[in-house]
Amino acid sequence: MRTLRIVTYAAPVAALVAACHGKTPTNPPAPTGQPLATAAASSVVAPVASPPPAPVPAAPTEITVTLEARSGSKLAGTAVLTAVDGGVKVVLKVTGAPPGKVGTHVHEKDDCSAPDAKSAGGHFNPANHPHGLPDGERHLGDLGNIEVGKDGTGSHEIVVKGATLVAGEPNSFVGRSIIVHEKQDDGGQPVGNAGGRIGCGVIHLAGG
Ligand code: CU
Ligand code: ZN
Repeated sequence: MRTLRIVTYAAPVAALVAACHGKTPTNPPAPTGQPLATAAASSVVAPVASPPPAPVPAAPTEITVTLEARSGSKLAGTAVLTAVDGGVKVVLKVTGAPPGKVGTHVHEKDDCSAPDAKSAGGHFNPANHPHGLPDGERHLGDLGNIEVGKDGTGSHEIVVKGATLVAGEPNSFVGRSIIVHEKQDDGGQPVGNAGGRIGCGVIHLAGG
């Protein structure tokens, strides 16, 4: 014996059709007497069909600098530079440093070749300011001091407002170097009395 099972979809479909047909069409808003801002704007906008400008290479968001020992020191470490809103964040981590505070700066040349790191030149100072500590007028490269513990490890973090990681820009840290000194930067002139250069690392783009 066969059982014929009839499943009907007619009712739901009918309901759906009814719902659609019952929907009131949405009327566009009635025009007002005022000139439309969109119309004014569209008159100065370039034709939509024009191709977009050639893509600009994206700025790197992060550069890791390896710090190498100089002046006979045992210093090692890294500086991680990150592009942030309005500046560059620098996070330094070192080992083998003398306990206490040691000054650190961005210096103007990407050259750590000299045994005393003098090849890196002076403090990066694109705005021709006097030397200083963070929170005051200073060289753009003045990063302050790294706090170093008794075990020789230390860290320091600073956001340098106005600096960039875009190669070729006047305030770019790319193509420069990071120096760690043997003594505290006391903010004095001309370069903070921080003594010899015990660590150095060049700031280069990845693959550059
Ligand atoms: Cu320095
Ligand atoms: Zn300085």
